[in-house]
Amino acid sequence: MPRIAYVNGRYLPHADAAVHIEDRGYQFADGVYEVCEVARGYIVDMNRHLGRLDRSLRELRMEWPMHRASFEVVVREVVRRNRVANGLVYIQVTRGVAGRDFLFPVGVLPSMVVTSKKVDPSFQATRAERGIKVITVPENRWDRVDIKTVGLLPNVLAKEAAKAAGAQEAWFVDPDGTVKEGGSSNAWIVTADGVLVTRPAEHGILRGITRTTIFDVAAGLGLRIEERGFTVDEARTAREAFISSATTIAMPVVEIDGVVVANGHPGSTVLSLRAAFFDVAEKTLP
Ligand code: PDD
Repeated sequence: MPRIAYVNGRYLPHADAAVHIEDRGYQFADGVYEVCEVARGYIVDMNRHLGRLDRSLRELRMEWPMHRASFEVVVREVVRRNRVANGLVYIQVTRGVAGRDFLFPVGVLPSMVVTSKKVDPSFQATRAERGIKVITVPENRWDRVDIKTVGLLPNVLAKEAAKAAGAQEAWFVDPDGTVKEGGSSNAWIVTADGVLVTRPAEHGILRGITRTTIFDVAAGLGLRIEERGFTVDEARTAREAFISSATTIAMPVVEIDGVVVANGHPGSTVLSLRAAFFDVAEKTLP
């Protein structure tokens, strides 16, 4: 069965799916996106993801390419047509196709692409058993990383640097040593008294949907969360460290810049959040 992609009103074989060379996403990174996890046959937290997409579109004065209810049908249909039970669905909206001009085009419809792919759940499960390594890199992104745009070149370079160092994620760090977030994840620590700490999402990071749902999961487990900045030094000496994203859920961090966190094994707090996550998250049938 061939993979199917949705592109501007049509369901096409993935290999034939394409957008125009003057799509503004291609020329200016003038577009936004979402990634939802698909797990055990359900799309996870789709409403929260589409809520954030709505905010990203509004912040950039872009239109929805269609009514939200129809949009949801397309997202579910792409997952269904690809028979994805475990994996992800990728959603992208750009300002559309127009002759290259920095100014917003007038009367142009936004472009919309939805793809879905299978991911073997044992990949992340195995990683979670061992934990991942992160490196730190200086923050060099623009000021509006709260908008989920496709302009991800600093993230690409940071994650490539992580790979070169034998790590799986890079944390952007401010000049004062405060951890912002990962190249494609939010950053967390657990203090000696078992309090979860993550940076406030008002400014300077993306408000992760997984991060938001972890607040609900933590409440159910009776865990306290403090929203404040933490430094790389505090993270290195924390009881636990972890990242969160739609593709990793809560993923233990066992090494930061080559320094082992705690005893070098995944902590019990992050593993309990991970275990309870799916019970708490919203589940939508494709
Ligand atoms: N990235 N911060 C950044 C910079 C991200 O790119 C992501 C997600 C997150 C976590 O957000 P969420 O919990 O909603 O996935 C935080 C996705 C997974 C990606 O680009 O593939």
